[in-house]
Amino acid sequence: MQRIFSGIQPSGVPQLGNYLGAIRNWVSLQADYECIFCLVDMHAITVWQNPDELRKHTLTQAAILLAAGIDAQKHVLFNQSAVSAHARLGWIFNCVTRLGWLNRMTQFKDKAGKDRENHSSGLYVYPNLMAADILAYKATHVPVGEDQKQHLELTNDVGQKFNHDYGVDFFPQVEALIPPAAARIMSLRDGTKKMSKSDPSAQSRIELTDDADTISLKIRRAKTDADALPAHPDGLADRPEARNLVSIYAALADMTVEQVLEAHQGQGFGPFKAALTEVVVNAIAPIGQETTRLLQDETHLLQTLRSGAQRASAIAEPIVSEAEKLVGF
Ligand code: ADP
Ligand code: NA
Repeated sequence: MQRIFSGIQPSGVPQLGNYLGAIRNWVSLQADYECIFCLVDMHAITVWQNPDELRKHTLTQAAILLAAGIDAQKHVLFNQSAVSAHARLGWIFNCVTRLGWLNRMTQFKDKAGKDRENHSSGLYVYPNLMAADILAYKATHVPVGEDQKQHLELTNDVGQKFNHDYGVDFFPQVEALIPPAAARIMSLRDGTKKMSKSDPSAQSRIELTDDADTISLKIRRAKTDADALPAHPDGLADRPEARNLVSIYAALADMTVEQVLEAHQGQGFGPFKAALTEVVVNAIAPIGQETTRLLQDETHLLQTLRSGAQRASAIAEPIVSEAEKLVGF
């Protein structure tokens, strides 16, 4: 069976964009792959996290994934720091990857900006740990968005260089699974910025734990314009906020933007926002309710993660032990 590794940072409460861009896709991949889902807390601390918040977000994230339909019995759900294989293989890869490769990573440049000297060295070697996350399981496929493609290429480069440096054919090539063209969901306050769990304004996003009233209020306050909905997507060209709301509707109702406009053309944003609220509440509120229920039994959640970590270790341990032997440990 082909194996998927996928990670998500427990650095905040997941938002609607995370759901449409990642979580919903993970749920459906479970039918065709053996899936290893990892809450990457070690990646999260490449930027300082409040320790209590990190623990809290890890549990919330786990509960949300379970509530959204991740099956932790059939597949593997755990947090990264609980399986030492990640750190051990990550260190070996720190010693295999060349500095020049890391210097070319555009995500570090984007995140560090001009203030490069003042970022953690962990943020810089992040791609090596990501390579270790994937290759510790000899995963065959990784679902990646556009932003992670370069890191997956580095994963393959470091695997091949390891094979070459130690004269073995040990790490396989990993394939990118490009998810079905997911709309990029934008902020509710500014249609030109992506919706993000790390945006300082909670009004800018719908969090997966928001209740129906909160969702309704955020949509009512979402920035729009005074025009009615056009009959055709061309009419949304210079209207990023309007286009975003229509895209969210389309993604959650499994419709195309054309179909949504066909059904709502001529409507102003009063009635359209009411229709959108219903669609969002139907899709998201049940996940929030189930998450709240799951969070009431922390012991059980911790047990689920612990048992996931044991099963993850059982797969990674023989692979990483062999890699350690190959380098001479
Ligand atoms: P965030 O900005 O909320 O912290 P991450 O960078 O941790 O999100 O991304 C986690 C996953 O969610 C990735 O697969 C990413 O492509 C997806 N994702 C995040 N934000 C959006 C968005 N606004 N629209 C679509 N997908 C998104
Ligand atoms: Na983020």
